Amino acid sequence: MDLKELIIREKLPRHIAIIMDGNGRWATSRGNMRVFGHQNGVESVRQTVEAAGELGVEYLTLYAFSTENWNRPRSEVDALMGLMVNAIQDETENLHKNNVRLSAIGELDDLPENVRKQLQSAIDYTAQNTGLNLVIALSYSGRWEITSAIKKIVEDVKSGNLDAETINSCLLETYLNTYTIPDPELLIRTSGERRISNFMLWQLAYTELYFTPVLWPDFRKKDLYEAIIDFQRRDRRFGRVKEQAKAVTVNN
Ligand code: FPP
Repeated sequence: MDLKELIIREKLPRHIAIIMDGNGRWATSRGNMRVFGHQNGVESVRQTVEAAGELGVEYLTLYAFSTENWNRPRSEVDALMGLMVNAIQDETENLHKNNVRLSAIGELDDLPENVRKQLQSAIDYTAQNTGLNLVIALSYSGRWEITSAIKKIVEDVKSGNLDAETINSCLLETYLNTYTIPDPELLIRTSGERRISNFMLWQLAYTELYFTPVLWPDFRKKDLYEAIIDFQRRDRRFGRVKEQAKAVTVNN
């Protein structure tokens, strides 16, 4: 039986986030430069976006470049940025045809100008689309995001635009990059690593974690289906007892 048919459409995760890992190992195990792994990872991105869109997933967030990735050798950073520009350029029309709406989270001001421009033009071009929301995390880290939120809150308190008494977790959320996006219900990390690595630290509070040994350049539609099927077999309680948790999921 096709794995896709085992997916219960009524129980799809609204938001799937992915830490795409293992590009370097995939390439070096083949005697190639690490960048070869990143290049092949673009096909996995294409397949995953297509599969998520076909299923009717609402949000897909891909961790494409972390704040820490700036510390990689200059040649790899440059190659990744070049790849990003080309991938966005090549894929924008295809994303648009598939009704995908692109957005980005992260410290985008730190990106080279050509990446920023290409990204902004793809975001603008797909802004009216109503299908899958594809969120690319670029120069992003969870600690950076929370720290930035706190700085903005302090500025607003100092300038008198915000009453410190009103600060709570709901308010803090409105200062995050992901303000308009629901928290991920499922996080997938490839390559066998079992870490969050500074990704969406606030948003992953109740997220189901799924780790697969598959290296990112090998990740295909069937791997996404497997992760979703695994997610659908889990019992999500959000810190409550089973009966209460059922009511929470139904009411949401
Ligand atoms: C992690 O593998 C992967 C990355 C840091 C980059 C991911 C980027 C792409 C797949 C390029 C295209 C993306 C988009 C959204 C157009 P790694 O290098 O850490 O692998 P390793 O752990 O084996 O060294």
